[in-house]
Amino acid sequence: SKKAVLGPLVGAVDQGTSSTRFLVFNSKTAELLSHHQVEIKQEFPREGWVEQDPKEILHSVYECIEKTCEKLGQLNIDISNIKAIGVSNQRETTVVWDKITGEPLYNAVVWLDLRTQSTVESLSKRIPGNNNFVKSKTGLPLSTYFSAVKLRWLLDNVRKVQKAVEEKRALFGTIDSWLIWSLTGGVNGGVHCTDVTNASRTMLFNIHSLEWDKQLCEFFGIPMEILPNVRSSSEIYGLMKAGALEGVPISGCLGDQSAALVGQMCFQIGQAKNTYGTGCFLLCNTGHKCVFSDHGLLTTVAYKLGRDKPVYYALEGSVAIAGAVIRWLRDNLGIIKTSEEIEKLAKEVGTSYGCYFVPAFSGLYAPYWEPSARGIICGLTQFTNKCHIAFAALEAVCFQTREILDAMNRDCGIPLSHLQVDGGMTSNKILMQLQADILYIPVVKPSMPETTALGAAMAAGAAEGVGVWSLEPEDLSAVTMERFEPQINAEGIP
Ligand code: G3P
Repeated sequence: SKKAVLGPLVGAVDQGTSSTRFLVFNSKTAELLSHHQVEIKQEFPREGWVEQDPKEILHSVYECIEKTCEKLGQLNIDISNIKAIGVSNQRETTVVWDKITGEPLYNAVVWLDLRTQSTVESLSKRIPGNNNFVKSKTGLPLSTYFSAVKLRWLLDNVRKVQKAVEEKRALFGTIDSWLIWSLTGGVNGGVHCTDVTNASRTMLFNIHSLEWDKQLCEFFGIPMEILPNVRSSSEIYGLMKAGALEGVPISGCLGDQSAALVGQMCFQIGQAKNTYGTGCFLLCNTGHKCVFSDHGLLTTVAYKLGRDKPVYYALEGSVAIAGAVIRWLRDNLGIIKTSEEIEKLAKEVGTSYGCYFVPAFSGLYAPYWEPSARGIICGLTQFTNKCHIAFAALEAVCFQTREILDAMNRDCGIPLSHLQVDGGMTSNKILMQLQADILYIPVVKPSMPETTALGAAMAAGAAEGVGVWSLEPEDLSAVTMERFEPQINAEGIP
């Protein structure tokens, strides 16, 4: 049959904590043509531990690519039109593998994992100079959240990792590095790299010089030779070595929250977005300046879209548990069978009836940074049922965002007039309306919610040597938005 003729296409891998996706966009219109999604297993081997299988993650990427290509074929779209691939990923999650065998030496230690709590406590007693040593270089508080302490744990506790380091066979990477190395050939010449946004989440990266920091590596006891090369977020890193898209350049790489900022076109200072995934992350573009927070937010690299392009920074409010609370209600309490059912339950009651849910499963992140906090459901009466708990879970996501927004407004001085949102949970209309009510500003959502993948595709398509995507603002005109206006007044009365 005759294949449809289209402009150049760009693919994007979106490897999140809960699922992997591959999506293909038309570079001229930013239209999403096809995609495939696979859920990723999480293992909880001990209380507070969260692991994933790096090979499952890699296979899920191949599976999503193959299935998406099949679907494109069914649409009569020729996959040879795919000119570039971008990678966006869950950040901080730590993998160490053997470069000779290609085998991971331990499971991926996921960003949510709390096993390094005691490592963090003992390190914080040894911080050299003033207490600002880590934060002033990295923009981050010393926390279980970031890769350096996870890597420290692997070096201290996993014999295979120690041996591989001694024998100079070990490579460290966040998920982007593991994927790009594997996809570009693995043991047969795979490229060991990361981008500035992912590097800025390791706690080993100096966000001013944009290089691995020798003093930080000494402080955490990390051998620098196992670290990946740090590149910009938009350049050709290597070519796909196998599968349906063999030979296509991988030319975009961004941590998922940075990718969403790009996909939401937040290129101006003061523009912000909030992504509701496993966790919830509000990032505000602060331009070429590192702004340090006085209210518990992080300073992080937003993007650097090309080797010779300037770096942009962001202030970030990170909430560990958002979508994960819905998955917990599904998998641990069993009060829903699918995540979508949460909306139906919440709608039935339209109130939590005084029930509050604090889902501090992994401690509390911004603005508290309290690793010892744990979850709680309170305000229960004999009247409370699963619908109220479902509603309270959605409210919890909104209240956490409110705290972040308040901190952001205090740090920036100029309050946000509206909140741009995206991510899986934003298809939940009750959540969106609650969020507008609880923030008391409009919540604005693009009609194409896959902004994380879009950002990675834009970076890949705009890379030097690919050049099929223009990042000019006029590209925005086609984006349609859905708005949720606050329906209660400032006193909270509907
Ligand atoms: O920092 C963790 C973040 O990148 C995870 O994103 O989409 O899996 O919640 P997500």
